[in-house]
Amino acid sequence: MMEIIRKTGRLGDFTFGQKRDPCISFFRKVMSMFIPDGSRPVDNANIGVTISVNPPGIKDITGNSAKAKKGGHASGVQTLWAKTDACFFREIDPETLEPIGYAEQESLHPELVGKLSAAHAKSDPITGDVYNYNLEVGRRTTYRIFRVSAATGKTDIIATITDAPGAYIHSSLITENYYILCVWAGHYAWGGAKLLWDKNLLDAIGDFDPTKKAFWYVVDRKHGKGVVAKYECDPFFCFHAVNAWEEPSPTDPNQTDIVADLSVYPNLDTLKRFYYNNIKSTSPGALNYIDDKRATCRINLRRWRLPSIAAGIPGQSREAVAEHVAESSKSCDLPVVNPRFLTQPTRYIYGTTDTGKSTFFDGLVKYDMQTGEALHWLYQGQNPGEPIFIADPQGTGEDDGVLLSVVLDGFKEKSYLLVLDAKTMKEVARASMECVVGFGFHGTYFPESSGGRPGVDI
Ligand SMILES: [Fe+2]
Repeated sequence: MMEIIRKTGRLGDFTFGQKRDPCISFFRKVMSMFIPDGSRPVDNANIGVTISVNPPGIKDITGNSAKAKKGGHASGVQTLWAKTDACFFREIDPETLEPIGYAEQESLHPELVGKLSAAHAKSDPITGDVYNYNLEVGRRTTYRIFRVSAATGKTDIIATITDAPGAYIHSSLITENYYILCVWAGHYAWGGAKLLWDKNLLDAIGDFDPTKKAFWYVVDRKHGKGVVAKYECDPFFCFHAVNAWEEPSPTDPNQTDIVADLSVYPNLDTLKRFYYNNIKSTSPGALNYIDDKRATCRINLRRWRLPSIAAGIPGQSREAVAEHVAESSKSCDLPVVNPRFLTQPTRYIYGTTDTGKSTFFDGLVKYDMQTGEALHWLYQGQNPGEPIFIADPQGTGEDDGVLLSVVLDGFKEKSYLLVLDAKTMKEVARASMECVVGFGFHGTYFPESSGGRPGVDI
């Protein structure tokens, strides 16, 4: 990709953010690029938002992967695939990180013809089956929810949704028995046709409309019943859904509720915050996005309850009940929980936060949903990436483990790997580097003991 930009001065046909200037968009540097027509971005696609280890079902369609493979790796990483908010996958050599293969969701199932999807697929923590949606915009906007079986590699479409607006949805949720798609704000304008006109995601998203509700679709993922319940609430925007689980309804123990935690923004202003000109600390635009001037870009951890899943009437939507909202200073984006507790009740959420004095993240936080208290690791000029939770193999508690984060020291202009105790948020260790590690959004941890099993998509 870099070579193509150097030679042609062009960034390709489709980007996440604007492409009028190679430096204009922060998003373009760290997120995605895709081509919405029939041509395949085999060699030059910028696919690199999330990483999947040994994902089931995905097979290279170019033949390049097979030629490049030299056999398995001692780490247990057999295949490594990068994903983005589109239907494309990029295979990466686990040792050299060279791009070696390419695939599309359509190769998983012939009906997955939409070009849009979520960079974050969701794994069943027990079976390793992977869930995601494929979005086709156009005359009839269609979300196809699909499951890739870890046991067979076969893909099934488990629900089709045609009554929701096409929206930019970066992540979704699963519980023990359900997959949950929340269609929040960030609707594509002109029924999606603006994607073709502007050729980038951000400009194709229409203005925030406070009268348009967010919709939650609960899809049965065990018994083939499709959409079994639908809920709505006041609109918000979100990149990252955190975790969800099922529990008996407090008002009727015979009924089952779903509880869902998300990192949410009040509207779409945060999308503009991350344009390069607003994030560069020395640019005038940055002044609009520090301290109290960016109230509408503030994030909150928010918990919803979807009551009595089985008591719904088909076609009717009920109210999703907001139960808890964390103060902005204690909230975070790039949220994670202890992966052992995915689809189970969780009390602690970890993620990136900031001091309010920086144009970028300059802290990590642990939020306690039960007490409303937070512990911070917070230093101006120290810019951490996503924390990755590694559970203590001997631990039993939800916060038994460590957090890993690659931090840029803005003063030394060098990066280091930070290790924090997940219980106390105190530094356990750091490994300094004599270089800067570029900011990506997401990484993954894959223990050697996993063998060749699929990693967990979150
Ligand atoms: Fe993400």
